[in-house]
Amino acid sequence: MTGETHVLESPPAGAAADWTIPQDWAHYTQEDHRTWDTLFARQAKLLPGRASDAYLRGLDVLKLSKPGIPDFEELSERLMKLTGWQVVAVPGLVPDDVFFDHMANRRFVAGNFIRRPDQLDYLQEPDVFHDVFGHVPMLADPVFADYLAAYGRGGQRAMGLHALKYLGRLYWYTVEFGLIEEAGALRIYGSGIVSSFSESRFALDDPSPNRIAFDLARVMRTEYRIDDFQQNYFVIPSFDELLRVTVETDFAPLYEEMLAEPDIPIAAILPEDRVITEGTQDYARSRAPA
Ligand code: PHE
Ligand code: FE
Repeated sequence: MTGETHVLESPPAGAAADWTIPQDWAHYTQEDHRTWDTLFARQAKLLPGRASDAYLRGLDVLKLSKPGIPDFEELSERLMKLTGWQVVAVPGLVPDDVFFDHMANRRFVAGNFIRRPDQLDYLQEPDVFHDVFGHVPMLADPVFADYLAAYGRGGQRAMGLHALKYLGRLYWYTVEFGLIEEAGALRIYGSGIVSSFSESRFALDDPSPNRIAFDLARVMRTEYRIDDFQQNYFVIPSFDELLRVTVETDFAPLYEEMLAEPDIPIAAILPEDRVITEGTQDYARSRAPA
């Protein structure tokens, strides 16, 4: 998902030096393909009117509605023509430097396995449904495609500056859990939201979370949770603006400043925030241990 955590230090047996493995499309069972189809049908029904136009266009032009788990070679061929990206299979989470190197070179690393039928709603590790259905449609958008490649280069730089904590939050609050304002309404584009049956409604409709206008330094200072729905979403005005501000800003001095400042707690609202909806945080409270 974020490339932030990893278990192994070197590629497992059967993986190449860059950690890629053959997708081996033929190894998927009927049940695997059925799991994809079930998840796909549920999300495809929910997303029109909720997901960003760029995301919905991606689903369409990449022909992701074709039944069964997509074949990465076929998918990469379509994607390559549109934005120069490819999808490559990896066994699971990979080390940060490997993740960023692929990304900077427009290779999106995707988990090869699919969740079990009893895990449709929740899964800790990113599987092929999260990675392909969640992430790949946005890569068909030329602006977002440039953003993610620039992010990969930014990751390589942040590693040298020991600032991955800050850069990782930018990924979290844009690529994974981002909202965008389109035609005067909020839409989802983050992969963690569009691939989730429950969060794709929660993120837009629930009164609990805060929805705050995107500000680069603010986002990079904000903590996040990985175990439940987000308590904050950050709203970008457009993908052009996201790309512009991240590419034009030199992050090195920002990282310096942030090291001297405290992190911002998950649900805090600051006086300088442009708040779009102030959340009740009722959901988070209902889930907190008594
Ligand atoms: N401009 C960033 C830097 O100076 C790199 C970056 C670009 C990071 C786009 C994220 C997204 O490090
Ligand atoms: Fe992800």
